[in-house]
Amino acid sequence: MSLKEKIDTAKLPRHIAIIMDGNGRWAKDKGHDRLYGHFHGVESVRNIVEGCAELGVKYLTLYAFSTENWDRPKDEVTGLMELLVQTIRDEVPTLNKNNIRLQVIGDTQQLPENARNELAEAIKETSNNTGLVLIMAISYSSRWEIADTVKRIAKDIESGAISSKDISADLFAGYLRTADYPDPELVIRTSGEYRISNFLLYQIAYSELYFTPTLWPDFRKEDLYKAILDYQSRERRFGKTSEQVS
Ligand code: IPE
Ligand code: IPE
Ligand code: MG
Repeated sequence: MSLKEKIDTAKLPRHIAIIMDGNGRWAKDKGHDRLYGHFHGVESVRNIVEGCAELGVKYLTLYAFSTENWDRPKDEVTGLMELLVQTIRDEVPTLNKNNIRLQVIGDTQQLPENARNELAEAIKETSNNTGLVLIMAISYSSRWEIADTVKRIAKDIESGAISSKDISADLFAGYLRTADYPDPELVIRTSGEYRISNFLLYQIAYSELYFTPTLWPDFRKEDLYKAILDYQSRERRFGKTSEQVS
């Protein structure tokens, strides 16, 4: 039985979020510069997007660029932005062919104008697709998102649209950039780092976390299946006792 066949499709995570890490180390191991790693990371993105779509996962969030990543050397940032724009432009026909809808979360105001335009165009061109929702986290950080959310709630209170009495965890979630998506059931981080790096802090309150030493450019469908199988072996209790949930 293959790994894929072992997956219980009735217990598939609806939403998988991935911290795609390790491109730089992968390239360095091979004696190349960091951009070479990012370039090969795109192949993993294609493979994993396809893998999720085939399985019937509904939402896939990929952490591609954090607000902190703006502080990297200028040539890496520029190279990454070019790669991003190029990839999105090239992938739109494949996204459409596979019924995948593209979405973006992040402080996109910080992106160069051509990147913003390409993203907006790709979002528009895939907006009628009804299969997998691919959410790219670009210039994203959770603290930025939370502060931005508070700002927008405060504005609605000032305008009288809502009252401070209305504030609840659910209302707050409804103002987040991820308001239209369920919380991820499974978060994967590659490259052997055991941290979250400012990713979806509010949304992962009850997510199952999966860490693998595999570097992102080596991550393929089989690795995804392993992560899903690991997730399916866990008991999710949400604060209750094992007896209550089993
Ligand atoms: C992840 O790989 C991609 C981005 C953060 C853009 P890294 O570039 O962080 O690779 P390492 O962690 O330095 O190996
Ligand atoms: C996290 O990776 C951000 C993305 C994968 C886009 P980093 O490489 O930036 O994280 P740290 O700096 O090691 O925590
Ligand atoms: Mg890294």
